[in-house]
Amino acid sequence: MKCLGLFFNYFGGKWRIADRYPAPSHRVLIEPFAGSAGYALHHPDRQVRLYDVDPVVCGVWDYLIRARESEILALPPAVTDLRAMDLPQEARWLIGFWLNKGATPCHRPDRWMRDGTRPNSFWGEAIRARIASQVQYIRHWTVEQRSYEAIEDSAATWFVDPPYAVSGHKYRFGAKGIDFQKLGTWCASRSGEVIVCEQAGATWLPFEPIGSYKSLEGRFGKKQTHEVAWFQGIGVSPSAQASGRAVAGQMFIDGLGERG
Ligand SMILES: C[S@@+](CC[C@H](N)C(=O)[O-])C[C@H]1O[C@@H](n2cnc3c(N)ncnc32)[C@H](O)[C@@H]1O
Repeated sequence: MKCLGLFFNYFGGKWRIADRYPAPSHRVLIEPFAGSAGYALHHPDRQVRLYDVDPVVCGVWDYLIRARESEILALPPAVTDLRAMDLPQEARWLIGFWLNKGATPCHRPDRWMRDGTRPNSFWGEAIRARIASQVQYIRHWTVEQRSYEAIEDSAATWFVDPPYAVSGHKYRFGAKGIDFQKLGTWCASRSGEVIVCEQAGATWLPFEPIGSYKSLEGRFGKKQTHEVAWFQGIGVSPSAQASGRAVAGQMFIDGLGERG
């Protein structure tokens, strides 16, 4: 199945660079720090299991997984202040994520959205239509509000993208709440294959550079982020993947289907 577009904007999301990481070889794909699940959106046919401690993030995913296309199409395309609108809380959060480019939903369009320079990057008819057309593809996904330590181990592809140790403070639940040494040990103890994302400068695992990319910080992403990653059970170096060479076989490791 082809890659899905973003369901919501999220600070630090990996959707734009998800193809720089190896494709999942397992049928089950777990994102323990889900956010907007940028990696899973590139592999929507997997048995995707999302976890996040943030009730807002989990609430929005739960809403999307269950929402009918018609329900999304009934949401108002124009918003001046969400607080004045009669909508389910999760729909408010969903729209609120599209009113700015942060990690917290807004009530009102921010200055960049009001400028109107990039209408299709913010909430409106085009985004609403895209989300409505995509909800059918995530019915088999699950989401649970849970901290990563409480997730049972299983043979899967684990895409681990925590708040960055040095700069991940913009989230409602950010880097301060994480013991990174403990997280490193937990990552190494996962079964199956593990992909861990970080930023240059992180030392809690032996990370390797995977590339420098435009970040969304600053107006329309003028800053660069230097991304690093740690891989376990993949059998390929990040540099081989970054140069676009094939990384895995044509079957899932558990043999249940063909690569999507
Ligand atoms: C860098 S963001 C994930 C971005 C995601 N990969 C994407 O594409 O949008 C990190 C996420 O980790 C969540 N988080 C923070 N502490 C956590 C914890 N202990 N367990 C699970 N999730 C946590 C935050 O709420 C945030 O949504």
